[in-house]
Amino acid sequence: MNSRMTGKSAIITGAGGGIGAAIAGLFCQEGGSVLLFDRNADILGKTAAQLRSRNPGARIEIFPGDVSDPTDVDQAVKHAAVAFGGVSVLVNNAAVRNHSSVETSDIAEWNRLLSVNVLGAVNFCKAALPALRNSGNASIVNVSSCYAVVGRSGMPIYDATKAALLSVTRTLAFEEAQNGVRANAVCPGGTLTPFTIGRGVASGRNAEEMQNDQRSDSLLRRWGRPEEIAYPVLWLASDESSYMTGATIMVDGGLSIM
Ligand SMILES: NC(=O)c1ccc[n+]([C@@H]2O[C@H](COP(=O)([O-])OP(=O)(O)OC[C@H]3O[C@@H](n4cnc5c(N)ncnc54)[C@H](O)[C@@H]3O)[C@@H](O)[C@H]2O)c1
Repeated sequence: MNSRMTGKSAIITGAGGGIGAAIAGLFCQEGGSVLLFDRNADILGKTAAQLRSRNPGARIEIFPGDVSDPTDVDQAVKHAAVAFGGVSVLVNNAAVRNHSSVETSDIAEWNRLLSVNVLGAVNFCKAALPALRNSGNASIVNVSSCYAVVGRSGMPIYDATKAALLSVTRTLAFEEAQNGVRANAVCPGGTLTPFTIGRGVASGRNAEEMQNDQRSDSLLRRWGRPEEIAYPVLWLASDESSYMTGATIMVDGGLSIM
C-alpha cells in the first residue's frame, strides 16, 4: 500500500458515481480512511463493496444521504468523526445537471441545482469545518467544471453553480488559512462517467465506442478518465500540495486554452 493519505480521513460526496468513486479508490489505495456519501444507496453499496475487495484493510464507511439536506450532512460528518476520530479532508463532488437555455430555464430547476451543487458543498463545509480545523492540517477540494470559466450555450444553471463553487472556494481559502484548512478546486473537462455514458446511450451511442471518441473539445482529442480527475484531487488532499490554497486547477485536456 502507498501512503500519501496515511493518517487522513476523508468525506467524499457523490462517491457512488464515476469521479467520486475514483477519488475514493485512490484515497484508499494511498492509506486514507473514507466516508462515502451519496443519495443513491444502491450504487453507494456497490462502490463500497468494490473498494473493500480491492483494498482489504481500508477503513470505508458509507452514508446514504442528500447533500442539500443539512440534517443528513450533519449526521454524516458526526458519523465520520466518530468512526475515524476526526475529519481532515472534505471533497465536495456531488452535482446534478440541467439542460436548457437561459430563456427556457425553469426557476424550480435553478433552485434545485443551486441547492445541490452550491448549497450542498456549503452544508458540508459548515458541518465539517470544526472537525477540519481540529485536525490541524486539513484540505477541502471542490469539484467544479471547466465550464465554470469557459462559456458555452445550453447549461446555464449548471455552469453558474460551478462558477459559484469556485467563488466559495476562494472565500474559504481566505477565511480558513489561519485555521489550518486549505481550500482548492479542480475543473474537469468531459470525462467518461455513468452520467456522460448514460447521456450518450440515451442519444443512441454505444458505451464501448464512446471510449474511442475523437473529441474536438479537447487538445488531447479524447474523453478524460475518472482517475485522471482523481489524481489531482488526491494531490490537493495530500500534504504534497501544502502551499496551495484558493487555487483552481483545470483538468480538461486543454479545453480551456483552445
Ligand atoms: N463527467 C464529466 O464530464 C464532468 C465534467 C465536469 C465536471 N464534472 C463534475 O464532476 C463531479 C462528478 O461527476 P460525475 O460525472 O462522476 O457524476 P455522476 O453523475 O456520474 O455522479 C455524481 C454522483 O453524485 C450523486 N448525487 C447527485 N446529487 C446528489 C445529492 N443531492 N446528494 C448526494 N449525492 C448526490 C449521484 O447519485 C452520483 O452518484 C460533478 O461535480 C460534476 O459536475 C464532471
